[in-house]
Amino acid sequence: MQAVSSTLSGNIRVIIIDNPPVNATSQAVRAGLMQAIEQAGADAAAQAVVIACAGATFVAGADIKEFGKPPLDPHLSVVIHAIESSAKPVVAAIHGNALGGGLELALGCHYRVADRRARLGLPESTLGIIPGAGGIPRLLRLVGVERALDMAAGGKPIGAAEAREAGLVDELAQDDVRAAAITFAERLLAQGRGARRTRELPVPAFDPGVFDAARARFQASHRGQLAPQACMDVAQHGVSADFDESVAHGRERFRELVASPQAAALRHAFFAERVATKPAGLPAEDAAPVRKAGVVGAGTMGTGIAMCLLNAGIPVTLVEQNEKVLAASVETIRKTYRNDVAKGRIGEDTREARCNALAPTLEYGALRGCDLVVEAVFEDMDVKRQVLAAIEEVLEPDAIIASNTSFLDIDALAAGLRRPENVVGMHFFSPAHIMKLLENVRGARSSPRALASAQALGKRLGKVAVMVGVSDGFVGNRMLARRTRECYFMLEEGALPEQVDRVLREFGFPMGQFQLNDLAGLDVAWRNRQSRLHRLSEREAACDILDEIVASGRLGQKTGAGFYTYDEKRNRSVDPAISDLIVRNAERRGIRRRAISDDEILERCLYAMINEGARILEEGVASRPEDIDTIWLNGYGFPRFRGGPMFHADQVGAARICERIRHYASQAGEAYWTPSPLLLAQARDGSGFYSR
Ligand SMILES: NC(=O)c1ccc[n+]([C@@H]2O[C@H](COP(=O)([O-])OP(=O)(O)OC[C@H]3O[C@@H](n4cnc5c(N)ncnc54)[C@H](O)[C@@H]3O)[C@@H](O)[C@H]2O)c1
Repeated sequence: MQAVSSTLSGNIRVIIIDNPPVNATSQAVRAGLMQAIEQAGADAAAQAVVIACAGATFVAGADIKEFGKPPLDPHLSVVIHAIESSAKPVVAAIHGNALGGGLELALGCHYRVADRRARLGLPESTLGIIPGAGGIPRLLRLVGVERALDMAAGGKPIGAAEAREAGLVDELAQDDVRAAAITFAERLLAQGRGARRTRELPVPAFDPGVFDAARARFQASHRGQLAPQACMDVAQHGVSADFDESVAHGRERFRELVASPQAAALRHAFFAERVATKPAGLPAEDAAPVRKAGVVGAGTMGTGIAMCLLNAGIPVTLVEQNEKVLAASVETIRKTYRNDVAKGRIGEDTREARCNALAPTLEYGALRGCDLVVEAVFEDMDVKRQVLAAIEEVLEPDAIIASNTSFLDIDALAAGLRRPENVVGMHFFSPAHIMKLLENVRGARSSPRALASAQALGKRLGKVAVMVGVSDGFVGNRMLARRTRECYFMLEEGALPEQVDRVLREFGFPMGQFQLNDLAGLDVAWRNRQSRLHRLSEREAACDILDEIVASGRLGQKTGAGFYTYDEKRNRSVDPAISDLIVRNAERRGIRRRAISDDEILERCLYAMINEGARILEEGVASRPEDIDTIWLNGYGFPRFRGGPMFHADQVGAARICERIRHYASQAGEAYWTPSPLLLAQARDGSGFYSR
């Protein structure tokens, strides 16, 4: 099969790209297009050209197999230049996605007709690169500077209707976009309209301050990232320089960025997620069909999980023991959907369907007939065991029972049941209807069917679902606990919350440790600490800064004060009372505070996590480093442009990490800092997590 073919429809030459699955701009496509456009030019029977795609989508990007390899001729910008230079008018027929190189190709065509469900965008910056084939200078001529900056630097695609309104698309097609594009081309010919080259269009008027404003906006929203700023540079160049020169400038910046560590990390993140969400040996065909689901416990998590299920079109029976809590949960769900309608996210019919699909109840018996039930009651082994037994009692023998526990042992939870093989962990993150990550937990007795069901359901809910093993805190919370411990130790040794948080933010986390604590509620952290006090080391148990803050009634954002104070808009400010409390706490306990450098803060936070991550791999709790990176990227705000903790570890090098771990051991003792055998082995042989 040829990647590019062409046929004649009347006097229109229709060029068809057929390169499954997404019609990527592979070398064969580029070469095929080059040849086809030359032939169309020479064909006396053809007066106009349509470029369309076979399959589910228009060209949706570059060929990821060519990533990181030397470029193969012809370069996409050369192909696009040839198309744009055609003397005969060229119309792009867009359905599905026109993304990245695909949109650049469409921009090089003289007109664009799009299916009304199509999406158009330049997502390159999310991979640390920029459009390298003239996409930005062309886009800004069609949609104006401001929108072009948003699309290129933000990377978010827009829908066809918005694209039409912005001037990116000339006509929307109702159904058959190829036929509509042919009709459009015929009309052009009938009206005597010829080629309209995007490069020759004037740049629409713009406010000169638009660049500075966008730079500042993206500096705040994409802190530390190079690609969005490079998009600004290219756009700025594109409005002032000669067109060819600005395309050349864009190509140059593309070459620079594609070789940058940020692009490597973002590419890694992309591939890691693909690996991590496909655990070996759990085919989707084995999964139980989920036609009706149950949720038990209508607190914070149960409410969010119920919404996830409803959003995916699954009817939900929501069981709670407390009538008031149940009513509040139902009201939260209804309010969220009313809000979604008000914001235009869903239609009134969808809202109604979702609300009707929710069956709130105080009776376990109502769970009868559910294919899968998620338990989200209090984090207490005895309570959960009773609840699981009550659920099992009313379900069919093959129904799946999932626990949303954060820390408890799935094997112990399942032990008292008649059919422990039906039990898995499904660890959602808060707020459950928003957070992408789902840690599915493989119990020792979980059946492949139960595990496949959890994975398939995660996918259906639009989650990034990663399978992990049983362990205290599974993968994410177990590593976070190591970081948290260091953060509290650093407070008593000499740091203040604002310094620790600033260092983490500067590394790229959206918020620091203590901001996170304030957001989640200090009472939650405190209760968690109390429940494990007997398992803590002497030093950890004695480190009671959190206890003091909670005792003073500061529970975080919800009470307007925690590690910081908050105004009505939840803007935080540093509170000298907290600095005092921390200093006095150290004095009382005879600790001499010292200045702690930013480097030390970052190293202790990251290396404590990485060392724990290495142990998690050694123990098989995570099967692959990709699983850990994916969890941290999607559930804990690890900066994507750094690839995840394990990828980052490889960039630093195991030898260096082990050396620093030994250094901290000399300060704090080996109980806290002992390099894992895996890291030591890597340090010895110069390997890393990804060079196995
Ligand atoms: N809050 C989080 O950030 C978070 C994140 C991930 C996982 N989790 C886990 O999710 C679970 C629930 O946490 P939460 O924050 O939603 O707690 P929550 O206290 O808000 O809700 C728990 C609810 O369960 C109800 N409940 C207790 N026993 C019940 C029973 N026998 N039958 C029916 N309902 C019962 C309670 O009335 C309460 O409404 C816990 O296991 C927790 O560790 C919480």
